[in-house]
Amino acid sequence: MKGRSLPRRGLPAAGAALTALVSLAGLTGLAGCSSADASEDRPRLKVTGAFMPQPVGDMASGFLTVTNSGGAPDRLTSVTSDVADDVTIHETVDRRMRQVASFDVPADGELRLERGGSHLMFMGLKKSPKVGGQVSVELRFEKTGPIEVDLPVKEPTYHPTRH
Ligand code: CU
Repeated sequence: MKGRSLPRRGLPAAGAALTALVSLAGLTGLAGCSSADASEDRPRLKVTGAFMPQPVGDMASGFLTVTNSGGAPDRLTSVTSDVADDVTIHETVDRRMRQVASFDVPADGELRLERGGSHLMFMGLKKSPKVGGQVSVELRFEKTGPIEVDLPVKEPTYHPTRH
């Protein structure tokens, strides 16, 4: 099995921190279930359904689903993009949005960023994404290495259909 999502570009100093994180995860795993294969005690993330409605102005939002088929939870902690220096993650409570520090990606579950709910928030756009184009983002997680995703730009009213 190839560790596609393992970080490859870390500075040498990051190694120690990563090791500490892994040992901590190992301990948690031990406490949780002693019979499970160690490889099952890891998050396995996949990103689907990503898009950005064409923005009007210098702010934009982005939507996607992170599916975790692994036996351990993870956490979306930050996002970077080529179109804006200021990208944050927001939740919506009582129709008002507010920034959060992270989003859980539960084990054997998913994190859904969708219209009317949680979303990626791009402020101070450096260029204007247009329908048919795409915006690339890098999602960073607590345990899993960074995942790069291209968000196709859709009409401002676009709403994905569920199946
Ligand atoms: Cu927002």
